Amino acid sequence: MSEMLKASGLFKSYKMGQTKIEVLKCLDFSVRAGQFVAIVGASGSGKSTLLHILGALDEPDAGSVQFEGKRLDKFRAGELNRFRNKMVGFVFQFYHLLDELNVLENVMLPAMAQSSTIGWLRRRIGAKKHAKSLLERFGLADRIGHKPYQLSGGERQRVAIARALMNKPALLLADEPTGNLDSETGNGILGVLEELNNDGQTIVMVTHDDRIAQRAHNVIRLADGKIV
Ligand SMILES: Nc1ncnc2c1ncn2[C@@H]1O[C@H](COP(=O)(O)OP(=O)(O)OP(=O)(O)O)[C@@H](O)[C@H]1O
Ligand SMILES: [Mg+2]
Repeated sequence: MSEMLKASGLFKSYKMGQTKIEVLKCLDFSVRAGQFVAIVGASGSGKSTLLHILGALDEPDAGSVQFEGKRLDKFRAGELNRFRNKMVGFVFQFYHLLDELNVLENVMLPAMAQSSTIGWLRRRIGAKKHAKSLLERFGLADRIGHKPYQLSGGERQRVAIARALMNKPALLLADEPTGNLDSETGNGILGVLEELNNDGQTIVMVTHDDRIAQRAHNVIRLADGKIV
């Protein structure tokens, strides 16, 4: 099976005044279509940093990421936007839902973001149907009019996953999707991810919880800036 996403020789450091924090030190990583990979590592080991680079939300200092054989840093601006918006779905560590929008609008946002005004008028009805079906699937049919602050943590996380899936991404990147939840709610979220993967969704999930990680097919450990 060929690699969907492949990172080679990634370096990333942050400068804080005089000190330089080296987070990634020549890191290699890859994921194949259909895999469910968990990345584990201690707090501060660079898991979020890596995931942001894989999703083109940040750039490495050196090294490269290839998606289906093409280097992200060679993408033209339009291609990069398309990659971020259509090819990957990102579930953030702290949800990042918009409190001004209700649940349905939050989920529809990625579809809106990729359309021109005219395009959106044409696609809006289909997008709404798709957003509603995702929310139904995740047990949120009776919450679509709620604002994020009117939801529980587990519900917010499910909305964030629905939003990440809105544009049918090839790859789902999830940063600690169970991190802020009690273990029962976390297990529910994991069940959602397992079901998606059974339907063919490729997933890379970051977690600091070994028990959660064991439920993925492949567990990869990040320490000292590398995969160990
Ligand atoms: N924008 C930034 N500026 C400076 N330092 C940063 C920045 N982002 C991250 N760091 C530092 O880089 C290191 C790795 O951070 P990162 O968020 O990737 O860790 P993590 O493995 O996701 O941790 P956690 O499990 O706590 O979420 C940390 O020491 C952090 O302080
Ligand atoms: Mg993190």
